[in-house]
Amino acid sequence: MAAVKPLGGWDVEKIRSDFPVLSQTVNGKPLVYLDNAASSQVPQVVIERGAKYLQEEHSNIHRGVHYLSQHATTAYEAAREKVKRFINAHDVKECIFVRGTTEGINLVAHSYGRKFINEGDEILVSQMEHHSNIIPWQQVAADRGAHVRMIPINERGEIVIDEYENLLNERTKMVAVAHVSNALGTVNPVKEMIATAHKFGVPVCVDAAQSVPHFPVDVQDLDCDFFAFSGHKMFAPTGSGVIYGKREWLDKMPPYQTGGGMIRSVSFEGTTFATIPEKFEAGTPAIAAGIGLGAAIDYINAIDFEAAAAYEHELLEYATERLAGIPGVKVIGTAAKKASVLSFTVEDVHPHDIGTILDQQGIAVRAGHHCAQPVMQFFDVPATARASFAFYNTREEVDKLADAVQKVIEVFA
Ligand SMILES: Cc1ncc(COP(=O)(O)O)c(C=O)c1O
Repeated sequence: MAAVKPLGGWDVEKIRSDFPVLSQTVNGKPLVYLDNAASSQVPQVVIERGAKYLQEEHSNIHRGVHYLSQHATTAYEAAREKVKRFINAHDVKECIFVRGTTEGINLVAHSYGRKFINEGDEILVSQMEHHSNIIPWQQVAADRGAHVRMIPINERGEIVIDEYENLLNERTKMVAVAHVSNALGTVNPVKEMIATAHKFGVPVCVDAAQSVPHFPVDVQDLDCDFFAFSGHKMFAPTGSGVIYGKREWLDKMPPYQTGGGMIRSVSFEGTTFATIPEKFEAGTPAIAAGIGLGAAIDYINAIDFEAAAAYEHELLEYATERLAGIPGVKVIGTAAKKASVLSFTVEDVHPHDIGTILDQQGIAVRAGHHCAQPVMQFFDVPATARASFAFYNTREEVDKLADAVQKVIEVFA
């Protein structure tokens, strides 16, 4: 593997050389990729692992007795073991492979909801959630006659903890909260929130899509009940993702999807289901993507992830300072604890225009509501521009971003 542990600091150039996509030009300019919250880039070792699977190992898993099938099964289950260690799950069976965060949260909402949510119950969802941690709960609430109640945020984009505590009561059946907000970058105090929910016997589903790529996580330390994340935001291919759940919940929950691979026996008199994780993994999974997720975890383990997180944080602080220093720029989301994400607006310029002009400079940022419309409503903006960083971004790229934003202002002056 090309990645090294840097000496005396983060060797960003060495890290960048692991990611082939970063060395290209876009619109005649070197690519500055600042859309990592939407999807991160993939290192060569992960690309090669996927290619090796397709060239040499491709076969369906779990069912075949032949060599290739057993080989592919071993590789896929090895990836699950890597996931277990990466998030420090107690039991590998608690790690269910899904397509991504969205599917993971839908699995929990619909399966847990069918069993444990009843008429008049309440589900607490924070105001800063991505739509994929709002809508599944709204759907389940509608099906079960329950109510979704919003945990409010403040002007800095932080959860108002007093209000959260006031909302918890004997009718609460679930708390759904992001570890890190994709629209604001806020790092939520999920460990404390989980401890409070547990005093009421309420489980917590953490949307970890934006935390796992940016700092080490430990589901046992957090004591979360469910924890969802996507491979494509953590240097792995699309189509890979995980929903972790505590065994004590997963064992009691009904299957979410049904079909091949998730049964013990089927007859027209009745069907019995396999145990976890198979119970929640109907049909042929994204095998290459799952193995790729394992390779991405190997990659993260091979670099100094804590140093990466510290470097990335410095980059975020530098970018915040540079952009906030430009007259007309407003940073949206100024929480005391943030990771990766810098959302901003420019006075009298629509974020889509910002995104388009930046693209002409080879700079990829996201412009829009970031699938977090309640956040936009709270800050009374139609959209924001969002730069989101990974450990392969540089201070020079931040300077290019700031210069380009300055140009946007000049164009619209
Ligand atoms: C916080 C958060 N949750 C959920 C999602 C949905 O992830 P996916 O589209 O990979 O399912 C995203 C994607 O941007 C996100 O940022």
